[in-house]
Amino acid sequence: MTTFQLEKHVNYVKSLDKKSDFDSVVMEHLRMSGAYWGLTALDLMHSLNDMDGEEIAAWILKCQHDCGGFGGNIGHDPHILYTLSAVQILALFDKLSVVDADKIAKYISGLQREDGSFAGDEWGEIDTRFTYTAVSCLSLLKRLDSINVEKATDFLVRCRNFDGGFGCTPGAESHAGQIFCCVGALAILGALHHVDRDLLGWWLCERQVKAGGLNGRPEKLPDVCYSWWVLSSLIIIDRAHWISKEKLRDFILNCQDQDRGGISDAPDDAVDVFHTFFGVGGLSLLEYPGLKSIDPAYALPVDVIDRVFYGQKS
Ligand code: FPP
Ligand code: ZN
Repeated sequence: MTTFQLEKHVNYVKSLDKKSDFDSVVMEHLRMSGAYWGLTALDLMHSLNDMDGEEIAAWILKCQHDCGGFGGNIGHDPHILYTLSAVQILALFDKLSVVDADKIAKYISGLQREDGSFAGDEWGEIDTRFTYTAVSCLSLLKRLDSINVEKATDFLVRCRNFDGGFGCTPGAESHAGQIFCCVGALAILGALHHVDRDLLGWWLCERQVKAGGLNGRPEKLPDVCYSWWVLSSLIIIDRAHWISKEKLRDFILNCQDQDRGGISDAPDDAVDVFHTFFGVGGLSLLEYPGLKSIDPAYALPVDVIDRVFYGQKS
């Protein structure tokens, strides 16, 4: 049986910090989210202490703009997605106190529209990804009262489809990534009664293909990142027992680079930090031995969430 190459994955994620190849240049604007994926994966593998939290927090602060939002890197435009990643990384290092929560809350509440939806930035694209991002970020900062929660919930409910799933805007087709966003946001808001658990659970468990992996929509190929989007949603609605966990575990393990570390989207493809995080996160949701537990709604280790909300480690 294939085993989990923890040490190799830790070394792979750490090596990304030092790289300056073509990939890193292309990915430069994604650096804040890339840092969140890599650092959370390291924490799940009990290796966050190897990283310099002070230095990382100082870099995060340099990415913040006067409006309160964060860019993907120093000098890059602010966006709600990078703002959540910045807050998540600070939560990982127990450094949320270095930021002005009210200032960030003002930036996020300024992105809420009259219909309850959220734009990603000043350019105004609307997507349920941004509702999730706003809700998760404000909850971590304990500032949910700075937005209209009722309208935000109404918008999510309007994105629900006849098949029990959710899309990126009202009327858009169900997609597992968007389902994670809507179900995760509703879970954080304490509004899961808007979800038809059996109908959605059926749609989600249909995402498991013969090879054991999960896809994001009917007729699509399985992909390791959907281990996260689908399984976290199934856990939140208490229907994870409707898929084969053993087959999913083996699919993820088969996507590892056994020699150099890292996890890819599908067996024999090139590894990247995004799929490494979602592979490790998926295995954590499956309670794979040796990994920390991850919270399915916040996508952060459970001990971090406990510290944020209850001031203690679990
Ligand atoms: C599919 O992406 C995934 C989504 C649409 C959900 C993205 C969610 C966020 C960015 C919110 C923050 C997430 C976390 C875990 C904190 P894709 O573009 O790869 O879809 P495709 O497979 O259709 O190409
Ligand atoms: Zn993927």
